[in-house]
Amino acid sequence: MKLLRSSVVLLGLIFAGARAASLVPFTSIPLSLADLFNNQATSLNGSGGNFDGLGSSYDVSLLPTGAWNYDGISYELPWGNNTSGSNDNIVTRNQVLALPEPTVLHEIHMLYAMDGNDVDTPMSFIFNFVDNSTEEVEMSAKAWWRWPEINVGVINTPYSFINQTSAKNSNATSIFQWSASVPSGSAVESIMLPSDTDPDSRLHIFAVSITPSTLSPDSATNAVLSVRRAQFSTRWEQVNETRPQAVQVTLANLLPISALSVNASINSPYTVEISGPTVSTVVPGIVRRLIPSDQVSVDVLVTTSGTSNATVTVKDEHGAVVGTSEGWLATPIPAEWTADPELLSTHETPTWYNQAKYGIFVHWGVYSVPAWAPEGTYAEWYNWDLHNPPNSSNPFYVHQLDTYGPDVVYDDFIANFTASKFNASSWLDIFDKAGAKYFVLVTKHHDGFALFDTENTTHRGSVYMGPQRDLLGELFDTAKQEKPWLHRGTYYSMPEWFNPDYAPYGFSEWPGGLARNVFHPSEFEPYTGHLNISDYLTDLQLPHMLTLAERYGTEIMWCDIGGPNRTPEFAAQFYNNAMAKGAQVTINNRCGAVPDFTTPEYQTLGAIQAQKWETNEGMDPFSYGLNSNTNASQYKNATTIIQTLVDVVSKNGNYLLDVGPTAEGEIIAPMTDNLLAAGEWLASSGACVYNTSYWFKGAQDSVNGTLRFLTTPETFCIVSLVEPSQTLSVNGQIPILPGDEVVYLGDPNNTSLSWSTEPNTGYLTVDIGDIPLNPVGGAEAWAFQVKYNTG
Ligand SMILES: *[C@@H]1O[C@H](CO)[C@@H](O)[C@H](O)[C@H]1NC(C)=O
Ligand SMILES: *[C@@H]1O[C@H](CO)[C@@H](O)[C@H](O)[C@H]1NC(C)=O
Ligand SMILES: *[C@@H]1O[C@H](CO)[C@@H](O)[C@H](O)[C@H]1NC(C)=O
Ligand SMILES: *[C@@H]1O[C@H](CO)[C@@H](O)[C@H](O)[C@H]1NC(C)=O
Ligand SMILES: *[C@@H]1O[C@H](CO)[C@@H](O)[C@H](O)[C@H]1NC(C)=O
Ligand SMILES: *[C@@H]1O[C@H](CO)[C@@H](O)[C@H](O)[C@H]1NC(C)=O
Ligand SMILES: *[C@@H]1O[C@H](CO)[C@@H](O)[C@H](O)[C@H]1NC(C)=O
Ligand SMILES: *[C@@H]1O[C@H](CO)[C@@H](O)[C@H](O)[C@H]1NC(C)=O
Ligand SMILES: *[C@@H]1O[C@H](CO)[C@@H](O)[C@H](O)[C@H]1NC(C)=O
Ligand SMILES: *[C@@H]1O[C@H](CO)[C@@H](O)[C@H](O)[C@H]1NC(C)=O
Ligand SMILES: *[C@@H]1O[C@H](CO)[C@@H](O)[C@H](O)[C@H]1NC(C)=O
Ligand SMILES: *[C@@H]1O[C@H](CO)[C@@H](O)[C@H](O)[C@H]1NC(C)=O
Repeated sequence: MKLLRSSVVLLGLIFAGARAASLVPFTSIPLSLADLFNNQATSLNGSGGNFDGLGSSYDVSLLPTGAWNYDGISYELPWGNNTSGSNDNIVTRNQVLALPEPTVLHEIHMLYAMDGNDVDTPMSFIFNFVDNSTEEVEMSAKAWWRWPEINVGVINTPYSFINQTSAKNSNATSIFQWSASVPSGSAVESIMLPSDTDPDSRLHIFAVSITPSTLSPDSATNAVLSVRRAQFSTRWEQVNETRPQAVQVTLANLLPISALSVNASINSPYTVEISGPTVSTVVPGIVRRLIPSDQVSVDVLVTTSGTSNATVTVKDEHGAVVGTSEGWLATPIPAEWTADPELLSTHETPTWYNQAKYGIFVHWGVYSVPAWAPEGTYAEWYNWDLHNPPNSSNPFYVHQLDTYGPDVVYDDFIANFTASKFNASSWLDIFDKAGAKYFVLVTKHHDGFALFDTENTTHRGSVYMGPQRDLLGELFDTAKQEKPWLHRGTYYSMPEWFNPDYAPYGFSEWPGGLARNVFHPSEFEPYTGHLNISDYLTDLQLPHMLTLAERYGTEIMWCDIGGPNRTPEFAAQFYNNAMAKGAQVTINNRCGAVPDFTTPEYQTLGAIQAQKWETNEGMDPFSYGLNSNTNASQYKNATTIIQTLVDVVSKNGNYLLDVGPTAEGEIIAPMTDNLLAAGEWLASSGACVYNTSYWFKGAQDSVNGTLRFLTTPETFCIVSLVEPSQTLSVNGQIPILPGDEVVYLGDPNNTSLSWSTEPNTGYLTVDIGDIPLNPVGGAEAWAFQVKYNTG
């Protein structure tokens, strides 16, 4: 590398990095949208509101009004107090939003909501530039309410009005915030809003603000640094005997991309510190690379003794102060969590979860005995599907009758759920060799059969019948002893289909009450193991969740279905108990309240979502539980696993991939083999997956969509989902600067590859030479890592 360095110095470039004179404020300018308003989303009493085309509206009395700030961005809220019943949002239909004057943009910000009920709707904004070029920017849009999962926006209300009356729908509704990088090669003239291809799922925009790029005040091309945010999180690190709080500080370089060069970038270790009346820095954050138009986030570890205004200080590699940014609200991690939903809503996924990226989900229970469903149906739903409808038009009914005769009911399968070959060590070996960093076991599905000790709440579980073993306890204890680095999680179904005690709470496909025997309709089926309790939530659901937290020490409470719950009480105890043990834990968005992360099912998101999310799906194309109808060749192969994982991680997601063991407790070979093959890829190329962050400027290339981008403080990763031939080209400016090294991680020798950037565009070409590109583990994904040379 010495040679390259000196040859570059000869070209007169400065290696010491930028000489930014100070920090500039991060500005945001609300745009006026009123001319494009075509819909009324809010109302005072339901009258006039028609957000969704069906007469629904937000209650305007519950919304903030006027100038409003979120995540440091200023918005102008459009609904006044809507007593006059005027339009207050744009339903997007390819309208053109013209900027007051052409402006080079750094970032765009919006308040929006989808109507309908979809998890994710990819939406495309087209930016029109003065040079007549266009660029597409993708949004992953969320629905204003969602059932049975919960979306949490930046503005939330407990209900909506329906039918243009004051009648209410009690699903909580939200308005969301989205910020995105804008390609900043040239000034933006206008933005074409997304089309409305699906009339049942339309994008509504309430407010838009823009952050312009900034030229260097000294008209040189030095970096223009700005503090985008300093957010005091609920995450902490163990540092010697102390537990400093993590503050996420995001630095922006507001120069437009056209100025890409060494001295327009941070290219040496800059430190970020925070100070204030109640804050002091324990471990500063270090930013090594920040090119024009980019943003980089680092954790600064601090001690915070109370609420106050804090100051961020940025220093260059010599320790000289570059600048300060004042007025950031310092808030300590709550010393004690209470059941207050507002307090609990500040809780975030822990750092370990954000960095782990890949987990194994396990659906194992009584449904593993019949292990059957027609293609396209979940096998773990066998008992519900057997009963609905109770006649020969139903393939489950026919299968049950043909296979077991009319006198076998679901609970008869319990005796055959033997776990006789279950070996916790061998499962954990598979998870570990697969490259997973956590696992989540189904501890009780909707059939109510538990794999943990339910003590006196119910004896419907593996401890009291069937295997007579504490399967969760065996798995967790073995993991603690043999693979302590694997994090341990528990799936828990909030309702039960046929529990008599659930009847008072029942809804939809979880009505509660005993199942009627489909072949002998005058009879009810038993609910084996049921004990007398007086209230499902108080005597069963909450105690189960607390047992999983306190006795078993789960680190992820991965609930399902939501519905009636005592989750705020649970969450407070879960967090307090974890804090006392020095652990950091998290809950998903299906516990009925206060989620940390969202969980799209058999679905990935089309674009970066800044709020943490996790895709979950089976190795089986249609089922979580084992399905004997599925052929070995149908399980996800190493290519699908790795490509999905990399795509999800590039958009800020985690991937929770499910296996369905047999009733005896074996993970069958086609699943194991594919997991281990993907694990081989991760063993060589995991540096481009674990501990990475999404890249501010986009998850993938805009030309072919076959590249994925990921970042760490010291590296930038390009993962190609198609095999490059001889060269790897990137049609966009990435943070690579002279002196950096590029390696292909699948190369056991990690040979340094020669690379160049095109002088006009800055686009990268890597010469792969004769490095062999055989897919590692058969997984077709090629990870190239740029290692920053920052002195
Ligand atoms: C509500 O709107 C009315 C009419 O525009 C205005 O007179 C009043 O001041 C507003 N009230 C609030 C609280 O904004
Ligand atoms: C509902 O609010 C509107 C103003 O938005 C008002 O004109 C109307 O009288 C109200 N209707 C009822 C039933 O209160
Ligand atoms: C952009 O297109 C317009 C209309 O077609 C044309 O008048 C103008 O010269 C073009 N500008 C550039 C920079 O090419
Ligand atoms: C709302 O309107 C729908 C369709 O007209 C009707 O079925 C429903 O009962 C109404 N709901 C209420 C609460 O008025
Ligand atoms: C949520 O919305 C759905 C669809 O409109 C409705 O059936 C359900 O009753 C609502 N839930 C609550 C708690 O209001
Ligand atoms: C932690 O302890 C080590 C060893 O005593 C010391 O070198 C290091 O500076 C300490 N770290 C902090 C942040 O205090
Ligand atoms: C922070 O400063 C602002 C004004 O700059 C002030 O309004 C606010 O009260 C301060 N907050 C705290 C917690 O000191
Ligand atoms: C249970 O297993 C036995 C022995 O393999 C088998 O004969 C029987 O059909 C099974 N019964 C059920 C209900 O699965
Ligand atoms: C179970 O036992 C505990 C401890 O003895 C007791 O506090 C609790 O009330 C019992 N629960 C039920 C449902 O009987
Ligand atoms: C892996 O699975 C995908 C999707 O089914 C398929 O397109 C691909 O050909 C498979 N790859 C190999 C090597 O079998
Ligand atoms: C896009 O695909 C075409 C055709 O395969 C290829 O020639 C080109 O290099 C690719 N561009 C990028 C940026 O990957
Ligand atoms: C790695 O380097 C060794 C020694 O130079 C060479 O023999 C071997 O072929 C290289 N392996 C690969 C996969 O390039």
